[in-house]
Amino acid sequence: MKKHVHYADYILKSGRLLELQETESEAQGKPAHDEKLFVIVHQVYELWFKQILHEIGSVMAFFEADTVDERQMELIVSRLRRVTEIQKVMNQQVEVLETMTPMDFLEFRHLLTPASGFQSLQFRLLEARLGLSRSQEWVRNLGSDAAYAELKKAVEAPSLLHLVDLWLSRTPFLATSDFHFWDAYQSAVRTMLADDRKVIQSNETLTDEKRKIELKSNQNMQTDFDALFDEGKYGQMVASGEKQLSYAATHAALFIQLYRDEPILQLPFRLLTSLIDIDELLVSWRYRHMLMVERMLGLKIGTGGSSGAGYLRGTVLGRKVFEDISALSTFMIPRSALPTLPEAMHRRLGFFHTYGEKE
Ligand code: HEM
Repeated sequence: MKKHVHYADYILKSGRLLELQETESEAQGKPAHDEKLFVIVHQVYELWFKQILHEIGSVMAFFEADTVDERQMELIVSRLRRVTEIQKVMNQQVEVLETMTPMDFLEFRHLLTPASGFQSLQFRLLEARLGLSRSQEWVRNLGSDAAYAELKKAVEAPSLLHLVDLWLSRTPFLATSDFHFWDAYQSAVRTMLADDRKVIQSNETLTDEKRKIELKSNQNMQTDFDALFDEGKYGQMVASGEKQLSYAATHAALFIQLYRDEPILQLPFRLLTSLIDIDELLVSWRYRHMLMVERMLGLKIGTGGSSGAGYLRGTVLGRKVFEDISALSTFMIPRSALPTLPEAMHRRLGFFHTYGEKE
């Protein structure tokens, strides 16, 4: 016989969920009205972190296989989109907490010390699983040895960034008997920059000074491209930690972005875009959280022991995981300058059926 599940049991776990919002101020017999909001908002964030970890974990499981079946790409991309939609809600939610004023916060802030979002295991797990290479910060007090062990395991395991790197490095199509993407791309870039130089030199509307500036910028671009084309130089950047993405993966990511109109590359392109979105939305969250902390605390130090808003300001831009992918836009060239794909390659990247063609 089918068991009937009641909402109260299934969702609220027999009421347990709604018993978890006790506050310190209540416990001490002096209820501070806004502490309930403070606790609930944090708990809601933790639930969202849990869901995001669930989605990222499932995506990583697909990438852990020796090959990723093309048929799974749509599912992977839609799960990553779910992550970004949750992140948007998370960013918006900061405003709910901002309805609490600094004075309201002071009613109970002293009761929190030394607790802080700093110690959120799930947040640190998320950073680690995405692939944030970090210093010693993650070893700070997480509340228990079990939490520390779990985070250590996540830090030492292959991250999403690493798995995506392996997947990108396996990309076929980059070199076939009649097409070598990297050679064709290099020569297209050289032609483009040389054409630009000619335009700058022959532009009569430019003053000498302006022309000098534009030629310098053209030269700078050439230098950036040279570094990208030089495997030795690129390897040094990876070794020094300046770059995270491997040389082979960088080529593939660039190829996917440049030829994203080709049917077979459309989902990989959307995957790369989702990773950039996740990074960007996390930066937005760090920024919104930092602003909230600034208005809540001013120059006060954090309950977790950091300098407070000052510490958080330093974390806003410096913790992007997929920056090497977003930074590839430096190396985009106009569609009109892209090397034309040989017909056989064009067909391999396309759908098999062409209208009007006999089966
Ligand atoms: C009144 C609201 C809040 C204040 C004043 C505040 C304050 C702070 C401060 C000062 C820090 C730096 C570490 C420290 O010294 O404590 C921090 C870190 C952090 N907070 Fe909050 N916070 C607030 C709300 C939230 C909420 C709602 C979340 C959601 C879970 C959160 C998550 C975090 C996380 C994950 C960090 C670590 C960031 C990092 O190290 O990159 N905070 N918070």
